[in-house]
This record gives sequence, structure tokens and C-alpha cells, in this order.
Amino acid sequence: MTQQKKLETHQLHFVLIPFMAPGHILPMVDIATLLARQNLKVTILTTPLNAVRIRATIKSEIRSGSTGLHLQLFKFPNAEAGLPDGCESFDALPSTDLRFNFMKALFMLQKPLEQIFEKLNPAPTCVIYDPYLPSAASVAKKFGVPGITFDGTNCFRMLCDHNLRSSKVHEEDVASDENSSEQIIIVPGLPHKVEFKRSHLHLFFNITTKLNVEYREKVWEAEEEAYGVIVNSFEELESEYLKEYKKVTGKKVYCVGPVSLSIKDNMDKSQRGNNIDSNEEQQHNEYLKWLDSWPERSVIYVCFGTLNCVPPEQLMELGLGLEATKRPFILVLRGGYKRDEMEKILKEDGLEERVKGRGLIIRGWVPQVLILSHAAIGAFLTHCGWNSTLEGISRGVPLVTFPMFSDQFYNEKVIVDVMKIGVRLGAESSMNYGEEDGYGVKVKREKLKEVIEKVMVEEEEESETIRERAKKLAEKANKAMEKGGSSRLNMSVLIEDIMMQKQQDIGLN
Ligand SMILES: *[C@@H]1O[C@H](CO)[C@@H](O)[C@H](O)[C@H]1NC(C)=O
Ligand SMILES: *[C@@H]1O[C@H](CO)[C@@H](O)[C@H](O)[C@H]1NC(C)=O
Ligand SMILES: *[C@@H]1O[C@H](CO)[C@@H](O)[C@H](O)[C@H]1NC(C)=O
Ligand SMILES: *[C@@H]1O[C@H](CO)[C@@H](O)[C@H](O)[C@H]1NC(C)=O
Repeated sequence: MTQQKKLETHQLHFVLIPFMAPGHILPMVDIATLLARQNLKVTILTTPLNAVRIRATIKSEIRSGSTGLHLQLFKFPNAEAGLPDGCESFDALPSTDLRFNFMKALFMLQKPLEQIFEKLNPAPTCVIYDPYLPSAASVAKKFGVPGITFDGTNCFRMLCDHNLRSSKVHEEDVASDENSSEQIIIVPGLPHKVEFKRSHLHLFFNITTKLNVEYREKVWEAEEEAYGVIVNSFEELESEYLKEYKKVTGKKVYCVGPVSLSIKDNMDKSQRGNNIDSNEEQQHNEYLKWLDSWPERSVIYVCFGTLNCVPPEQLMELGLGLEATKRPFILVLRGGYKRDEMEKILKEDGLEERVKGRGLIIRGWVPQVLILSHAAIGAFLTHCGWNSTLEGISRGVPLVTFPMFSDQFYNEKVIVDVMKIGVRLGAESSMNYGEEDGYGVKVKREKLKEVIEKVMVEEEEESETIRERAKKLAEKANKAMEKGGSSRLNMSVLIEDIMMQKQQDIGLN
């Protein structure tokens, strides 16, 4: 028998196609970065405006020696789908009514993607796509390339949704419209007893919503067809859910996170998500200097993510709650929903003046990872986006949860019920994206003060326990990403699996 030829990593070409929203793109770029460091060719496919957000990261990665990392652009079909110019990502929609046009645009991406695939050299060996971009799955299939999904969530959420789909418990005994959102659904087949209010389930399980059903079916199909799934999580975080998810789907599941920990360089961390100029960089340094002036674990950090959909009245109430804590805080406003109105009521109230020196209200992009890494931070009030949640977890900061949309309620359960590293602020009401009006004030300032005390107060058993757990979990998160850690190993296994597929394909085995 002759010696079999073996493929080399540099002969592999991974193509990554992220969904157009910051919470999806940034972690996918981190994955691209990790792969490129393994001596593979990696190409990220995205649109020009989305590329602006990630160029700095890619450039700095290339500068530090990852020559295999590439960016390939395609045009977003704005006009064809009835979207205004410049509207290439979900967070850039000037009105949430346009989300249906956005979905329409997503369906039109097949052609442009195929055209790129025809020219890719070497031909792709693996496509990592976001299932919310079903045309990417179709293209992978058409070109016969193994597809791996990545949607930026966790095993807990994937298992819950899988079990709902297969059991259809959410379709049983649906109350009349008026009362249905409060109904309790128990998700079957989970390691813990997990209850959801009907309104907290993923949008796809709302059987009365005006949602595009065709889109949902395509997304589920894109998920099912995949050879495997990459998760921005780590084995130690949710091992029971991971094990069960593998069992029920029979899928290869690669936990490779928290991916943002791979980006060690400070400069790059602060630039993540946007190109910042030197003014902004100076601003960022000011924030950190401000933090330097506070004792350890004394500052409350409040940020509701890039989309920040908390309605102005509620946001204002939370601001007043922060004032009432008499503790130092950072409140990040960002672009977000009804921001002009927010500015107006903020000014009328005079909060910013009153808390001057102690409360920092930030309107631009913040270097979140750097802030969370600062010793002065004592709690993180978060909307529970998975990305932000992981950033909090890997810095060992106790979390205070304020979810608003479906997937954020899942993450809240991971934080509060599964990992027990945070406290619920009690935002029991959910809303549908684009239907923020009428939310009102669900959480009063007194409640915020009370909950903050639960995690911040010194020498009290409950808060000590939470802090201790958060710290331990952070150690595990960091270990997972170190050499020999579980996430690093899973990344290697992924590459080996794809290599084996390719070898079988070209008859080397
Ligand atoms: C909703 O629930 C309330 C209280 O349980 C009940 O009185 C009311 O009749 C219900 N409404 C409908 C339309 O079923
Ligand atoms: C389902 O969606 C509709 C329309 O978007 C909304 O009015 C309703 O409250 C939702 N139902 C639940 C249970 O969340
Ligand atoms: C996560 O989101 C935060 C803020 O929304 C951002 O600062 C950060 O760069 C994101 N990180 C990743 C890994 O996407
Ligand atoms: C990921 O790593 C863990 C720990 O090393 C291992 O048990 C598991 O099998 C790996 N997963 C895959 C899909 O190879």
C-alpha cells in the first residue's frame, strides 16, 4: 500500500457569511480570526457598509501575521427590496416596519453569493453561515460544501427551541389573544424545569404574529441541513444543555467561545464594532481614567446593547433608580429607539446635572470589554444579549438582567437560574421588535435600587455568593480559551473534521 497523501491546513478555505447585525457579525469575525490563526485561508463575505465595522479588526489581525484573512464584498439589494440607501444592516433600519423589506433583501442574496462562490480560489472547503441568512445555506448546498451554522446564541436556547419545535407544546391550549402572552409553557426534555411565559419564547413560536412564515421555515431548514454548529459558548458553562442538544440533534457541536477573549490587544478591543478616530480614542481613555478614580467594585455599568430598544420613559425611570442608589454609574445611551425623545426628557428632568461627577452618561460607542475589565466595575445591568452576557461572564462581573425581546429572556434564565451569577430586575413584559410603543414603565426606580443592592452590598451572603460564582465562572471562561482549553480543542476538532470531509471528497481516504 502506498503512503496516503494528507491535506495540509493551508489548502483549506473557510468562507464565513454573517447576518447583517452587529451582535451577529462581530462574534463571527472573531471566529474568522481564530480560524485564520490556524494557518487556513478564511474569507468573510459581507456588504460594504457592514465591512466598515470590521475592517479595523481585520487589518490589525493581518498586521499581526494572519495573512490568510480576507474580506470579499457584495452589494446589498437595497433598492430592489424597497430599502433606503445605506440600509445594509438590521440595526440601520430607519423604521422597524421595514424589517419585512429587510427579509426580502435577504432572500435576494442568493445570486450575488453564487457569483462570488464561482470565483473563490481555492474553492471553499467549508461555509460557516448564519441560519438567519438562508440564502447562504442554499449556496453552500448548491456548491456541495459542508455548511456549519453560527447564530451567536447558546446551547440552552438551541435546545429549548429544538424541543419546542419537536413537541409543539406551544401550540397546545392557546388562550384567547388577550391572555395568551401570560400563559406558562414548560419546555420538555430539559435538565432543569424551565418555564417560559408564552411572550418570552422566540418570535418564531408566536403563532399569531404577522411574521413571515416562509422566512421562519427557511431559517429552520438552514439549521437542519447543516453538518454541524459552532456555538459562542464553552463546555463548562452549559455542559448539560450541550450534551442533551448533541443527543437530540445528532449534530456535531463545537463550543469555541467566548470568542471575544481571543482579541487580546487593547487597542483593537476598543475599536471593535466601529472605526474610531483619535478623538474617540481619547474619549475612551477618559472613561477609563474616570473609572480609575473609583474604588474596586463600586461602579454600576448600564448598557442595553447596540439596538437599545428600551423606551424613553422606562430608560428615564432606570436613570432615576441609578441616582437613588447613590453609587457611581455609567449609563450608555447609544443610538437606539426614540433617542431624541430620550434626550428631551433627560434634559427636562436635569438628572445629568444632578449626578455630575458620580454618574457618567455616554452617548457614543463605548469600549465595553475594557470597561467591564476594569476593577472598579461592580455590576453590569444588561439587556442580556448573548454577546454582552458573555462579555460580562468572562470578566467575572455580577449581572443584573433586563431583557426585552424573546431571546434575551432565554439568556436571563441562563444567567439567573442555570449559572446563578446575577439577579433579575424583573422586566417581565416582553415586546415584539418594532412594537415598543405602549411599553410604559414596567420597572420602577425603587426596584432597581433594591436589586442593585442585592449584588453590590458588601459582606452579605447572597451577594458574596453571586460574586464568588461569577469570579469562578470567569476563570473557567478564560481557561477554555487558553492553550489546551476546551474551546481551543473544539476549534482544532472542527478543522480536523472538515479536513477529513475534504479528503473523503477528493478520494484521499
Ligand atoms: C382573561 O383572563 C381573565 C382572568 O383570568 C378572565 O377573567 C378573562 O375572561 C380572560 N379573557 C378572555 C378573553 O378569555
Ligand atoms: C404575537 O405577535 C403579535 C403580533 O406581533 C402580538 O400582538 C402578540 O402579543 C404576540 N403574542 C405573544 C404571546 O407574544
Ligand atoms: C458585543 O456588543 C458590545 C456592545 O453592544 C460591543 O461593544 C462588543 O464589541 C460586542 N462584542 C462582540 C464579541 O460582538
Ligand atoms: C470539545 O472539547 C471537549 C473537551 O475537550 C470534548 O470533550 C468534546 O468532544 C469536543 N467537541 C467536539 C465536537 O469535538
